[in-house]
Amino acid sequence: MKLSLTLNGRAVEADISTSTRLVDFLRRELQLQSLHPSCYDGQCGNCAILLDGELVYSCLLPGFAVQGRSIITYEGIIDTLEYNDIISGFHDEQAYPCTYCLSAKVVITQSILESTLDPNQQEVLEAFSGTYCPCTNFHNLARGVIRAGEYRRRRLHER
Ligand code: FES
Ligand code: FES
Repeated sequence: MKLSLTLNGRAVEADISTSTRLVDFLRRELQLQSLHPSCYDGQCGNCAILLDGELVYSCLLPGFAVQGRSIITYEGIIDTLEYNDIISGFHDEQAYPCTYCLSAKVVITQSILESTLDPNQQEVLEAFSGTYCPCTNFHNLARGVIRAGEYRRRRLHER
């Protein structure tokens, strides 16, 4: 079937089989290499995207589910000032994701900050509860996200 969607702000059309998962469609057909699916079961979080502004794990959806919808991925965030806020916050709090999961952690952080620029620790930890990462200090990560919110608030006030 033919699929039309908005990907990182650009209109995209592509053919897709009805049996293809969204994460595979995004990686293989649209070359979004920031997605690193490892569980295909909603357990690791490494396929996180924003779908119409909502955080979803793209391994859990069929590709055709995004017909007419808008997707933001890590590739759509990385060249923005919003990305700088996130990385600055992570850096300040020694929250250093590895290259494998950085993209998912940025997307999840973006989803948190789109709902509030002043999240508390519990809200951050809940947002990351669907991810698997044995090597991050999640308290540092939560502080990093909160700090990123501070950077973004400051930047928006300076306009
Ligand atoms: S591959 Fe989607 S949550 Fe793990
Ligand atoms: S999987 Fe990347 S820091 Fe744990």
